[in-house]
Amino acid sequence: MKKYAGVIVRKDDKCLFCKRNADLNNFGGEWSIPGGSVEKGEEIPNAAQREFYEETAHQLGTPISSLMAWVELLKSKFNLSDESMILEMENDVKRLETVADRFSKIGSKPILHNHVVYEVVEEFVNYFKVRVSDKIEFILIGDKQVEALVNVPLFDWVIENILKNAVNAIDNEGIIKIEVKENLVKEQVFIDITDTGAGIPKKDFDTVFQPGYTTRKRGWGLGLSLTKRIVENYHQGSVFVKDSEIAKGTTFRIVLKSNMTYVPTTTS
Ligand SMILES: Nc1ncnc2c1ncn2[C@@H]1O[C@H](COP(=O)(O)OP(=O)(O)OP(=O)(O)O)[C@@H](O)[C@H]1O
Ligand SMILES: [Mg+2]
Repeated sequence: MKKYAGVIVRKDDKCLFCKRNADLNNFGGEWSIPGGSVEKGEEIPNAAQREFYEETAHQLGTPISSLMAWVELLKSKFNLSDESMILEMENDVKRLETVADRFSKIGSKPILHNHVVYEVVEEFVNYFKVRVSDKIEFILIGDKQVEALVNVPLFDWVIENILKNAVNAIDNEGIIKIEVKENLVKEQVFIDITDTGAGIPKKDFDTVFQPGYTTRKRGWGLGLSLTKRIVENYHQGSVFVKDSEIAKGTTFRIVLKSNMTYVPTTTS
């Protein structure tokens, strides 16, 4: 049996992107992915993985373009161009396009551009907050100028994973605060995401980033491992649990390299 890269099999024997060959009750069965088969805990080769992602992006392309056209038609036919529902629908279709684009780019080196971090985060938070319960309040504060080299589609994915986890951790009602800060001396940007959710035990501060670790019934345990990979490998930054208290909440910190150079001033 070949070795495959990237462990994608969950602890409870469910596998992302895999179809079980044997019947679903037979937990000893084999998983298959396009381009090969994989057994629990094995790794997937980059070539097969890339081929699968490219194919996924390609397959998504047609329905997405047609959804785009349907939205345009709805706007013109019913004169709904100002309707917020249509605008949100349009945002969702654009989002699908971004997700498909991510799939097509996996495996290739992402290009980083200089961005005002606050603006990137703000845009995503505005998209995200109308899609979750209105009992969750979002607060965005901090430095509105600091810049960093960011690949926006990938970075959005980071924010999305952390925000989704924060929403999942909140039982019904709560607050998610996002703060953008600059550490001028270290030439770093901090993005602190704090929720008023269930909290994480101290012993699990690192474990939560391991692929397959989940405490959710329907979780894959992939969100934070992906987040870590995107921040560390593509942005040369870091991400960790800064603070957490059971039943009080959690703060995740993302650290990016600031694009501002610190020049100490001297007094004569
Ligand atoms: N803000 C948070 N508050 C409390 N626990 C959290 C928080 N964020 C993550 N966790 C814990 O870390 C685990 C792993 O998170 P991760 O995002 O990797 O996977 P998941 O959310 O379980 O599944 P998915 O792959 O769908 O994201 C969660 O199941 C949860 O136990
Ligand atoms: Mg998650």
